[in-house]
Amino acid sequence: MMHQALEMKESLDERCSKILRNMEASLTARDRVGIQDFVLLDAYTSESAFLDNLRKRFHENLIYTYIGTLLVSVNPYKELDIYSKKQMDTYMGVNFFELPPHIYALADNVFRTMLSEFNNHFILISGESGAGKTEASKKILQFYAVSCPSTKLLNNVRDRLLLSNPVLEAFGNAKTLKNDNSSRFGKYMDIQFDHQGGAVGGHILSYLLEKSRVVHQNHGERNFHIFYQMVEGGEEDLLRWLGLERNCKNYSYLVQGGCPKVSSINDKSDWKTVRKALSVIEFSETDIENLFGIIASVLHLGNIKFAADDRGYASLNNNQEMHWVSKLLGIPAQVLQHGLTHRKIEAKSEEVFSPFSVDHAVYARDALAKAIYGRTFNWLVNKINESLANMDSSRKTVIGLLDIYGFEVFSVNSFEQFCINYCNEKLQQLFIQLTLKSEQEEYEMEGIEWEPVPYFNNKIICDLVEEKHRGIISLLDEECLRPGEATDLTLLEKMEDKIGGHPHFVTHKLADQKTRKTLERGDFRLLHYAGEVTYCVVGFLDKNNDLLYRNGKEVMRQSKNTVIKHCFPSTEPDSKRRPETVVTQFKSSLVGLTEILLSKEPWYVRCIKPNEAKQPGRFDDVLIRHQVKYLGLMEHLRVRRAGFAYRRKYEIFLQRYKPLCPDTWPNWKGTAAEGVHCLIKHLGYKSDEYKMGRTKIFIRHPRTLFATEDAFQVCKHKLATRIQAKYKGYRVKGDFVKQKEAATKIETCWRGLMARKEREKRAWAVKVIQKFIKGFMTRNEPSCNDNSEYLAYVRQNYLIRLRENLPKTVLEKDCWLTPPPIMKEASQLLKKLYVRQMVKKYIRGITAQRKQQLLLKEQTSSMFKGRKENYPLSVCRPFLDTRIGPEDISIKVLQMIRHEHIRYSVPVVKYDRNGFRPRVRQLIFTQEAAYLVEEAKIKQRIDYSSLKGVSVSNLSDNFLILHVTFDDIKQKGDLVLQCEYLFEALTKMSVIANKQNCIKVVQGSVRFDIQPGREGFVDFKSGQESMVYRAKNGHLMVESTRTKSR
Ligand SMILES: Nc1ncnc2c1ncn2[C@@H]1O[C@H](COP(=O)(O)OP(=O)(O)O)[C@@H](O)[C@H]1O
Ligand SMILES: [Mg+2]
Repeated sequence: MMHQALEMKESLDERCSKILRNMEASLTARDRVGIQDFVLLDAYTSESAFLDNLRKRFHENLIYTYIGTLLVSVNPYKELDIYSKKQMDTYMGVNFFELPPHIYALADNVFRTMLSEFNNHFILISGESGAGKTEASKKILQFYAVSCPSTKLLNNVRDRLLLSNPVLEAFGNAKTLKNDNSSRFGKYMDIQFDHQGGAVGGHILSYLLEKSRVVHQNHGERNFHIFYQMVEGGEEDLLRWLGLERNCKNYSYLVQGGCPKVSSINDKSDWKTVRKALSVIEFSETDIENLFGIIASVLHLGNIKFAADDRGYASLNNNQEMHWVSKLLGIPAQVLQHGLTHRKIEAKSEEVFSPFSVDHAVYARDALAKAIYGRTFNWLVNKINESLANMDSSRKTVIGLLDIYGFEVFSVNSFEQFCINYCNEKLQQLFIQLTLKSEQEEYEMEGIEWEPVPYFNNKIICDLVEEKHRGIISLLDEECLRPGEATDLTLLEKMEDKIGGHPHFVTHKLADQKTRKTLERGDFRLLHYAGEVTYCVVGFLDKNNDLLYRNGKEVMRQSKNTVIKHCFPSTEPDSKRRPETVVTQFKSSLVGLTEILLSKEPWYVRCIKPNEAKQPGRFDDVLIRHQVKYLGLMEHLRVRRAGFAYRRKYEIFLQRYKPLCPDTWPNWKGTAAEGVHCLIKHLGYKSDEYKMGRTKIFIRHPRTLFATEDAFQVCKHKLATRIQAKYKGYRVKGDFVKQKEAATKIETCWRGLMARKEREKRAWAVKVIQKFIKGFMTRNEPSCNDNSEYLAYVRQNYLIRLRENLPKTVLEKDCWLTPPPIMKEASQLLKKLYVRQMVKKYIRGITAQRKQQLLLKEQTSSMFKGRKENYPLSVCRPFLDTRIGPEDISIKVLQMIRHEHIRYSVPVVKYDRNGFRPRVRQLIFTQEAAYLVEEAKIKQRIDYSSLKGVSVSNLSDNFLILHVTFDDIKQKGDLVLQCEYLFEALTKMSVIANKQNCIKVVQGSVRFDIQPGREGFVDFKSGQESMVYRAKNGHLMVESTRTKSR
């Protein structure tokens, strides 16, 4: 972005300084390069001043100058670098007066006027032969080809329009003394545009081709280019097929001027261009073949020589050239031979052939050659028109380009020059009418007084030539048509007779002494608008009649060559009725042309030839002064000025110069005329310097305009800076406003979006809450729409809570989360499952050892649970394998019972059977028996088989009484023991000795045997304190504190 801005700035600065440079240059250069528009010439009536300006510019290579909208162009005779694509771009769409004069400016202006006004225009290009008309018309065509909007289809049309030129030039142009590429036919070309300005088609009208050139050329001139192009450039095969040799000198039709080769012309490369062009313009290969056959056969015809037979008649004996013509045109040789040597005479109802004399035969041959070439040329133009034709019927506007042969004067001038110069006379007449008329109308329309400008009106010459019954054309036709022996000389006499007194006509006979010297007897002289021309009357009648013997036509009709067939149709009216003479045809075609032109808006290019030598840089004052004069440029200028150098529509004038007055800048509120008035008052125009018309301001002196323009140029620069600054500010402001608007818009959208989201959320929440409340209210009803979700929620919620509050261990199984009513059953099932799962897990986690322990505990439980008061306290005390390690048992004891595996040992207190004194002992259980051990002594061994039973109280003491049998005399008696690990010891014992059933829990009192026959008692009771003592009754009293049951 930065980069781009920088670039833009640079180019803007660059442009500003360029404008400034241009401005300064145009101010200072005025002296050097002259003025661009003659209208601004102060000494506008001075021919010298006019010439000076033209010369100044010519030497600066500025070949174009305006007179208002008329373009004066001086042939530079050298390539100028002003026709590039870049130049075209520069002139495209730019105001006429803003750039230096150029043919492109004119073309662009015509084009844009046509588009905006949607009407038809034509550009009249005039000037004498070699002045640059054809080049100018090509430049205009090229400009349109580049500048018009194009599509692929349009490009096609464009290419054909462009390429029709080289083809027509090859067949219609020739080197003359005046111009190496002189147009020998008149050409009016319509370019058709659609409403968007695309070139969509074209049409060409051709005027009077100078056919005589086919058979005769003056010294220093050539035949039409195409002949030389074919001989020089034609491929070997082609030439062989055509029977031609690559040497122009071999063809008598090509060498009469004595200059078949010209340095400025490259026939070889032109041939290539023409060949290529022919195929682009959609000429079929057959057409091209036929066309070349015709061109070649014309050359062969020219070489046919007639011999005189013994009677003096022309004869052709197996002539080689004649055979080539026969072959190329597809005419039987016999027919051709007969046709070339005989003429058909109609005598009454009979047809008689009369043989030609040699002269006649040559004449008839040349007539045939001219006819063939002339008709082929017309066929060519039609063919090109077919290819340019626009099929679309929608309305078109056209720009016509008229490039017609220019006024020409040779040392010998004949019928052709007469026609050409007459044509130029007519166009000059048209020019005078159009320019004077429009100018006059403008002044009248604007209500400006003006003095008529004297100018030479060439109507008098036109009349001299074309007036009915009295004009030269009428006389010529009369002479051609009258019966009897009419000759060129009788024509001359007739003219002398009828128009002898005309000021613009003179002959040898009529002339005064001095003039007579410059005239031959067979000459007549016309004082044309462009100068005097002496015509040699010889050949006038012939050329005007343009007779082709009827026989010749009939021969041609037999041709197999399709082009020739086309050119000599069998439907052609018979020559019984005389066809119109050449000059009359020409006259009516010019009338037609005038009509075409008058229906369109005219634009003018006046071409000037700077010297006769075709040399660059040579400005021949006399020659140019003469052209300026006869082209009526001075008159045109004077009429344009009519006292006022410059006029512009108020709107345009105001638009351009309004910055010069604070009241009109930047905008004028009133009418444009008032604005201009205000502006020029501010500028200090004096009352005689200007006039206000109805729609235009007229400025008398150029200097007034220059002063205004100079002031404007200075002011423009300042303004540009201001406008730039304003514009930049405006742009930035615009950007800012845009951004702000955008931000607000985004904000609004965003807020809207958020609000909509919030609303949706709330609506959703309301619904959810409603549903929740409804669900809550109907929670106890059977599942329905209203409560299904709620219940699902309750279920889920309960399950989630349950998951977080599950009992951690099996022992906590009672702290189960209270379920909601609907979950009661599920909860129960779950609980069951879960407990089972916990138990399973718990069980899996239990080791074999612990299992063993628990099994023991279970046994303990089965023996004591609910029976002995202090049993619950024992539950949590794990059992050990033993309470006395083997290291704490006396070695001696161990020695003694070494055959028995010790299973369990526990410290006990033994109460003597007599006196009940407590003694600390060890009780050891082996596989076989229980031992009571006092240090190293075994005090008593009780074989398990002799263990009758074991008694314990139901209270919380830890006494046990072992009852033994007395089978053995050494047996000592029952044992009263107190053991801190009562339950453990008893359980172990019951397992080891397998004495589960012999353990009794008794209440109150236990009887025991001290020795056989002597009994003792242990009484048990609960008391305040635990104590053991010998009661008065001799019983051992064991008091124990009551254990609070859990
Ligand atoms: N604008 C031009 N720039 C360069 N050479 C030109 C220009 N106009 C004419 N010429 C030269 O003058 C010769 C004659 O011009 P042409 O247009 O054929 O004349 P006209 O058609 O008026 O007889 C051209 O062949 C060319 O060499
Ligand atoms: Mg020309």
